[in-house]
Amino acid sequence: MTDFVQGLPKAELHLHIEGTLEPELLFALAAENDVALPYGSAAEARAAYDFQNLQAFLDLYYGGMAVLRRAEDFSRLTRAYLDRAAADGVRHAEIFFDPQAHTARGVAFDTVLAGITQALDNHAPTLGMTTRLILCFLRDRPVAEAMETLHAALDHKDSILAVGLDSAERDHPPEPFRPVFDRARTEGFLTVAHAGEEGPAAHVTGALDALGARRIDHGVAAMDDPALVRRLAEAQVPLTVCPLSNVKLQVVDDLADHPLKAMLEAGILATVNSDDPAYFGGYVAENYRAAAAALGLAKAELTQLARNSFQAAFLPDPQKRAHLAAVDAYAAAQPA
Ligand code: HPA
Ligand code: ZN
Repeated sequence: MTDFVQGLPKAELHLHIEGTLEPELLFALAAENDVALPYGSAAEARAAYDFQNLQAFLDLYYGGMAVLRRAEDFSRLTRAYLDRAAADGVRHAEIFFDPQAHTARGVAFDTVLAGITQALDNHAPTLGMTTRLILCFLRDRPVAEAMETLHAALDHKDSILAVGLDSAERDHPPEPFRPVFDRARTEGFLTVAHAGEEGPAAHVTGALDALGARRIDHGVAAMDDPALVRRLAEAQVPLTVCPLSNVKLQVVDDLADHPLKAMLEAGILATVNSDDPAYFGGYVAENYRAAAAALGLAKAELTQLARNSFQAAFLPDPQKRAHLAAVDAYAAAQPA
């Protein structure tokens, strides 16, 4: 199963680039940028990655970003992710970034974007990968700040395809962000949103109805609402599920309890993704492998998940068809 998963062509649709900051790069950049860290070593940092909930993770995640200062820091981060993703069979990645987490500490929007796009434009093609960029607004910061961030993005429609909503979900429903998402769609951006990770099924409904979300990031809590499950299945709204993240942040008690298989059985277009792999213990192939082992997913179901990832991608139909054909050819060539 290990070899099958690694080579299986896949798209990654839920990946925070800041969540790919491995402790070794964290330490290297801290030294170069003269930033003090609360850990003595990379091993000590890793040992601290033990989270009770989403907020406990976010505190470390935003803290770690202090080492990202120059455009080249963002380029190195992004290149390292692309290398790991390519090794995991990722052919297409739609990558989140959190500009407010950088502008709030004095790093300019354009510095962040220039660094990331430098790597996407120059490095991804050498790996045979395509990429898109999704700007996420932080839902625990003011709506007006999200609107200002959207304004900063208007000059960069060539490099930003979509906008999303992330950060602390509890007590931060989607509805207040409706004007920001309305404006974003008017400006031609696609919209997605994190919902139903720590928040209730109603946040998923709100993301669809108030934000026009084309995909739901996580969406685990949607399974609590049978009518919503039917709606997601009928409309084929993709869920970008992140199994190892859900275990690490205690969204589920155990991977064996994860609703991923139930989502597939309900006809939902579920996909598997890594979220913040430097913090959650595995890149995307490891998420497929761990879910397969815990939930007893067979090759047919793993192939379905890979097909879903391309079906759910923001790619033109001819490119989707080519990727789907590559998945099918790969699966057909593997021993049963
Ligand atoms: N949830 C919400 N916000 C985030 C996450 C997540 O899993 N990762 C990075 N920002
Ligand atoms: Zn996420």
